[in-house]
Amino acid sequence: MASSRVSILLLISLTISSLTVAFAGNFYQDFDITWGDGRAKILDSGKLLTLNLDKASGSGFQSKNEYLFGKIDMQLKLVPGNSAGTVTAYYLSSKGSTWDEIDYEFLGNLSGDPYILHTNVFSQGKGNREQQFYLWFDPTADFHTYSILWNPQRIIFTVDGTPIREFKNLESIGVPFPKNQPMRIYSSLWNADDWATRGGLVKTDWSHAPFTASYRNFNANACVWSNGASSCGKNSSASNNSKPWLSEEFDTTSQERLKWVQKNYMIYNYCTDTKRFPQGLPPECSMS
Ligand SMILES: *[C@@H]1O[C@H](CO)[C@@H](O)[C@H](O)[C@H]1NC(C)=O
Ligand SMILES: *[C@@H]1O[C@H](CO)[C@@H](O)[C@H](O)[C@H]1NC(C)=O
Ligand SMILES: *[C@@H]1O[C@H](CO)[C@@H](O)[C@H](O)[C@H]1NC(C)=O
Repeated sequence: MASSRVSILLLISLTISSLTVAFAGNFYQDFDITWGDGRAKILDSGKLLTLNLDKASGSGFQSKNEYLFGKIDMQLKLVPGNSAGTVTAYYLSSKGSTWDEIDYEFLGNLSGDPYILHTNVFSQGKGNREQQFYLWFDPTADFHTYSILWNPQRIIFTVDGTPIREFKNLESIGVPFPKNQPMRIYSSLWNADDWATRGGLVKTDWSHAPFTASYRNFNANACVWSNGASSCGKNSSASNNSKPWLSEEFDTTSQERLKWVQKNYMIYNYCTDTKRFPQGLPPECSMS
């Protein structure tokens, strides 16, 4: 009795410590600051990263690794107060003229007015697949988790565990899907007051600078790409089975959450913008 209780406790504490390890992403280890001349900072022994923007410059960072498929989580706390004109971009992207890209962009606003969460998916250099949302919380008051699930069948954008968007692999009807080009994680904070807030009507108020966005708890369950090979190894069902995210799809609850977000918080969907596509909506739009 006593010993089984001890072993259960041991099991629980092992589980907790392995969870802690999984979430203890270290920014020194996983990312490089790429621009901003000291405006991007890694703090708190690598547990926190901040980007700053002032009138002279924004700042940005990128992952050391390239990934080909993964489930990637990051917690962000966005520029508080009057953030009108600022954009915080957090995205995956490959290189070259036929690049793939999976985007989150956070468009700031006046104090008390809602941020817009802008999303897009590029495959082979072509985007034009914007969907925009308001959030059901204030993204500047605390950290929230923004995740990208990317596997060969689908891309799912998830906020605090709630899916907001799915982009399915519809190569079967001729829609290119990102699946051959490894991508890096990028993030930056910059001034976009020519378009970001109310379409550019509200300008950045530099008396509030520097503007700061913060990042923590990066976690990637992902296939790392290096020297032309994937860390996920050979294409076998055994190695795939140990990575449930490689074939993850929606259960009924997630499907319902997705519908709830799309019904109540979606403010723009390219798939309903018939004015923009007079020749007809993109083919994937009839498949959801
Ligand atoms: C900013 O607030 C205005 C007024 O509520 C709203 O129309 C707009 O969508 C908000 N977001 C941005 C990025 O302009
Ligand atoms: C991986 O295996 C599956 C099924 O065994 C096969 O259909 C697919 O073409 C393989 N992919 C690669 C990249 O070898
Ligand atoms: C394993 O995953 C890869 C993607 O990394 C996929 O192309 C392949 O079909 C999967 N293989 C099997 C046997 O399921």
